[in-house]
Amino acid sequence: MMGDRLLGVLVQTADTGRLELKYDDAYLSDESATPLSISMPKAPLTYRDRALRPFLLGLLPDNDQILQRWGARFGVSWHNPFALLAEVGEDVAGAVRFIRPERLKDVSEDSVAWLDDKTMERLLRQVRLDPGGWVESEDDRGRFSLAGAQSKIALLREDGRWGLPNGQLGTTHILKVADGRFADQETVEFVTMRAARLVGLPVASVELTRFGEEVALVVERYDRLRDEFGRVERIHQEDLCQALGVLPDVKYEREGGPGVEAVVRLLRQNLGNHADAAVERFIDALIFNWLVAGTDAHAKNYALLLYGPLAELAPLYDLTSNLPYQEPVSEHERDSRLAADRSGMKMAMSIGGENTFRGVGRPEWQRLCARISVDLDRVMGRIDEMSSQLPDAVAAAAAEATVVAASASITKLVDRAATHVAATRRAIGLEAHPPAERTSRTPREDTAADTAARGDPVKEVT
Ligand SMILES: Nc1ncnc2c1ncn2[C@@H]1O[C@H](COP(=O)(O)OP(=O)(O)OP(=O)(O)O)[C@@H](O)[C@H]1O
Ligand SMILES: [Mg+2]
Repeated sequence: MMGDRLLGVLVQTADTGRLELKYDDAYLSDESATPLSISMPKAPLTYRDRALRPFLLGLLPDNDQILQRWGARFGVSWHNPFALLAEVGEDVAGAVRFIRPERLKDVSEDSVAWLDDKTMERLLRQVRLDPGGWVESEDDRGRFSLAGAQSKIALLREDGRWGLPNGQLGTTHILKVADGRFADQETVEFVTMRAARLVGLPVASVELTRFGEEVALVVERYDRLRDEFGRVERIHQEDLCQALGVLPDVKYEREGGPGVEAVVRLLRQNLGNHADAAVERFIDALIFNWLVAGTDAHAKNYALLLYGPLAELAPLYDLTSNLPYQEPVSEHERDSRLAADRSGMKMAMSIGGENTFRGVGRPEWQRLCARISVDLDRVMGRIDEMSSQLPDAVAAAAAEATVVAASASITKLVDRAATHVAATRRAIGLEAHPPAERTSRTPREDTAADTAARGDPVKEVT
């Protein structure tokens, strides 16, 4: 199904185990109907494994332990996306829903189990300690699947209450918790996402919320909207690996996944009038990730929203800085080869052929711009603008986070963001610190007109 319309029939053949998808005839003949993926345009043909596996696997967690758990619980192979989505595929990323034929008629099942604060705390603790464990529950309530490696749960929020939906009802929010691999991960992600919004990037809305002892990053789903009757409507999306037909386990460019050029080509070929704006937004995201040392900005962390034949770049999500987890390298060490190896934090997509943060300077940006036919001066201007706003934006977001959950990781993030941003500015030939008048004035001399002129990031963006 696509939303509440039949899109087609997906089968796995009993003899060979091969996957096949055919679009439904009525769906095919409706020009306004949305394709499952840009990689599988609407056409009267049968899509098979090569086309289907990247899309289907892209809807499941990137975590073998969770998949093994699900496989054991449902008595199916954890390598089999068809069998897993038959169990958890009724609420996934985007508007597609995988519904077993016998459940198609069961619309009467719609219901929500509302959760009080104590239950929320217990649920989040369970998700943190045992990310795949929720499938052990007896009923089908709250079954969902989302990609990614981090511990998370998808829930419905309505009138301030949280609930586990069942039947046709979709979830509206994703709650992410730190699972111990990276300390305070949800708080660091909150600060990074908020800082991105403060410097003017289009990002998913986030809150940092405490439920008793548990702290969760609450992410509003941009692929769910309320219609005029207050019902949750699904908007279709796919990540860029899915759109390019790339398997999720090679999402990093260094493992064979998509790089900047492949993404820009995809946007230019498929976004029509929106392409130039989308390329600019994508480059803004590359700049932002370079400035905050975001190591995880692979093609599964960008998505397209699909509306019938139209597509646009989705708001940014899963932005997070690696700075709290990276011991800074001393000035002395910086020049030695050893230090280059030690601090060789890698980017998920290289810039002008370079994939370490510290190896990128003006020549790399220049090379990138030449390869993708983008104006270097604009990019340099954006780096200057964003980098002069970023340290304040990170500090403001950190202050907000600290009200909910103070942590050493956030203090490190604020300190290191300032140093890292100064280094990136030097690397492209700018002064380490933004122009003197920004910092040397006293607040009294700072007029409203001046604030407006330089676009104070913290005050400007809500
Ligand atoms: N705000 C949002 N609205 C709709 N879908 C979202 C949103 N945020 C994330 N998603 C979907 O959920 C998936 C998992 O989210 P996310 O990337 O934040 O998880 P993660 O576990 O941190 O991922 P990774 O393994 O890349 O670190 C995304 O790939 C995307 O499909
Ligand atoms: Mg992700």
